[in-house]
Parts: sequence; structure tokens; C-alpha cells
Amino acid sequence: MKKWLFMSFMALLLLVLAACGGDKKEAASAPAAEGDGGYTKEKPLVIKFSHVTSIDSVKGKAAEAFAKLVDEKTEGKVNVEVYPSSQLYGDNDELDALVSGNVHMIAPSVTKMVKIDPRWQYVDMPYLFENQEHARKFFNSDVAKLILESDQLAANDIKGLVFWENGFKHFSNNKHPLVTVDDFKGLKFRAQAGKVLESQFKALNAGSATIAFGETYAALQQGTVDGQENTFNNFDTQKYQEVQKYFSVSEHGRLDYAIFVNKTFWEKIPSELLTAVEESLNEATTLAWDLAAEENEKSFENIKNSGIEVLELSDAEKEAIKKQLEPVYEEFTDVITEELINGIRDLK
Ligand code: LMR
Repeated sequence: MKKWLFMSFMALLLLVLAACGGDKKEAASAPAAEGDGGYTKEKPLVIKFSHVTSIDSVKGKAAEAFAKLVDEKTEGKVNVEVYPSSQLYGDNDELDALVSGNVHMIAPSVTKMVKIDPRWQYVDMPYLFENQEHARKFFNSDVAKLILESDQLAANDIKGLVFWENGFKHFSNNKHPLVTVDDFKGLKFRAQAGKVLESQFKALNAGSATIAFGETYAALQQGTVDGQENTFNNFDTQKYQEVQKYFSVSEHGRLDYAIFVNKTFWEKIPSELLTAVEESLNEATTLAWDLAAEENEKSFENIKNSGIEVLELSDAEKEAIKKQLEPVYEEFTDVITEELINGIRDLK
């Protein structure tokens, strides 16, 4: 009798476990709901969007515009919660948070994707992009799809959607004017991420340290590093003019963004809402591109008016820096791949 009872109990337990497992599997593979999936203004679907720059930066403004468009187009059924200024996650943890689904959307400077795919460092290859038009052609090209739709992203449950623009990077420091290659010698710079930037500074006989964006102001203020490289707009909106004395307009590399989402989360957004969210993203992307040009121009004026010394490098001076940085191509072409580098060059 005891044995029979025990067997029955075990059989029941197995049935319950099998049923639970089945549910889980089904839930993971279930298609997104039709229509609005039952979401309402009162009980909306929440998309958490984390980024590291301030609300008045190019990215900050575009992110706010995206949230507003989504609210309008879904009549409040989708609520994009934007967390700027590394408030929720910073450089060191936002990618992990995306992979684990703790945040649903991020817009990192693409070089920070090096953790998943080193080819994203294409953006740091010195003087690879000729001008803004060239960068824009790339964003919409088949070459860009090599990385935006890569297996590496999918393997991490990430989907790359679109590129947002910022602009060209320039050097600054608080020791002396940077004009010739020799001026960089012995200085230490803050770098965003990855080995390409380390190699870039090494080629200039300078040192570098990877420092999160949210910690860079303090690092410059405290002298942990002497200088940094960034766009006019990031420099200005982070108020680096307060902690830097010399700014060299060098245009030696790009800083642009891509929008990445948690794939599982994204593919579960009910169809009608997803259409509205995608439309909003396309509109916000156009805005982000327009804003990038305008805001960087405004920020350049702010920097010039801030009292720090601004050095606009001549073509010959930029050419000398470019030549000095050639070893970066020798070291990293295999990593970034010729397919990507030549593909970008061919878009000129
Ligand atoms: C940086 O770290 O300098 C940039 O990636 C910040 C940003 O997101 O624009």
C-alpha cells in the first residue's frame, strides 16, 4: 500500500514538472500577440531605454523625442522610460543589462560593442570617414548590415536596429596645445573602450586608460588623465571646458551610435504596437541625424566662447597625424576585417 502510494505520488510529481516545463518552453517560443495585446494607457507596455549622455545631448534629445512619438502613436499603450546620464546603467554594465533583459533598449557609442564583436571598432579606425555624408551613407549601406545584423548579436539575444549619428571626435587636454604629433608624447588620455583606441594613443606615443563616460569629468578634473577625445557636443554637454584647457579640431575618428534592443523582448511586442514603435524609431532617427549636425555646430560655438584655447588644425597638420596613426591599420585590419574597412572606403 505504502509502495503504491509512493509510486502514485512520484507519477503525479513527474506530471506536474513536465507540465511546468512545457509551459515555459511554449511561453518562450510563443509568437507576439496580435493587435495591442490588451495593453492600455493605464497598464502600458514599458520599454526601458538606458543611455549615458545628458538629456540636452544629441542622443538625449533624440531619445526623448522617440519616447514622445511612441506615446502619441500608441495612445499611451507603450511607455518608453528613458534613463539618461548613466542613471540606471553606465558603460560598465548597460550591455549586460540588455542581454539579461533588465533594460530593453540602449544606444551606445558603437565602439562599446567590442565586448560582443570587435568589428564595431571600425568607428575608431583613424580618418576612415571623410565627412558626415560618408558616415551617413555607411549607416544605410549593406556594409553596415555586416555588423548590425550579425550572428554575434543574435547569439547574445540582441537585435541591432538603426544607427544614430553624433560626429567627429577631436582631442583635448589640459597640459599644452596639441598641434603636431610630438605634442601628444607622454600625455595620458581617456579612451572609451577597446584595443584600437589604445593602439591609436600608443602610435602617438601617449598613454590611455579606459574610463566610463560617467566618470570622465572627474578623471579629467583630478588629473587621472590629461586629456580625452570626443565630439563637440559631448564635450560641451559634459562641460569638459571646465576641466580642459586646449581643444584641437582634429576630426580623427567618429563617434556614432546604434540602437540595440533585447531580441526576445522586442519580438514579443504585440504586432500593432510594434508597428507604431518602429515608425517612431524611424522618425526619431531622422531627427537624430538632423540634430547631430545642428547641435555639434552649436556646441562648437559654445566651446570657442568658453575661454579655452581652440586650435583648428590645418589639412597638413591632420595629414601628419593620419600618417602617424597608420600602424593602427597594420595592427587591426585583420580584426575589423578588410571586408568592412574596404566596404566603408568604397562608399566615399
Ligand atoms: C563616450 O564614452 O565618450 C561616448 O560613448 C558617450 C556617448 O554615448 O556619446
